[in-house]
Amino acid sequence: MILVLNGPNLNLLGRREPEVYGQTTLAELDDLCRHAGRDAGVEVTCRQSNHEGVLIDWLQGAVEDGASGVVFNPGGLAHTSVALRDAIASIPVPVVEVHLSNVHARERFRHHSLTAAACAGVVAGFGPAGYRLAIGYLATAT
Ligand code: DQA
Repeated sequence: MILVLNGPNLNLLGRREPEVYGQTTLAELDDLCRHAGRDAGVEVTCRQSNHEGVLIDWLQGAVEDGASGVVFNPGGLAHTSVALRDAIASIPVPVVEVHLSNVHARERFRHHSLTAAACAGVVAGFGPAGYRLAIGYLATAT
């Protein structure tokens, strides 16, 4: 099973700054991820939380929940959270960080991700297709 975690404000996808994040809703993104999993022959479980601690609990529980890899969009917490980085580093399965937008083409404070260094890789700027890429990678790497 591949766990797909979305962090703060991603529940508002489709309505939130559509010129930056596109028209796809979180429900549609979750569907896309499950389809990508089906195509790659792996089950996908999708979760979203606005709360850092809940995301940490899900990362810590990933192995126990049966995940062989995690696709993680930490939202704005990518740029601030040592605790999330530590949680990623603490688990033995690969985590791929995904950002819908190209964070490097945006405000300077988005150019650095604290969480990325603990991840197997990062996909940014490809919109929902980035999740498909990450799932495809994890399905073959794990
Ligand atoms: C984001 C990029 C972050 O900088 C931002 O805070 C988000 C979404 C993305 O998917 O492009 O909430 O992670």
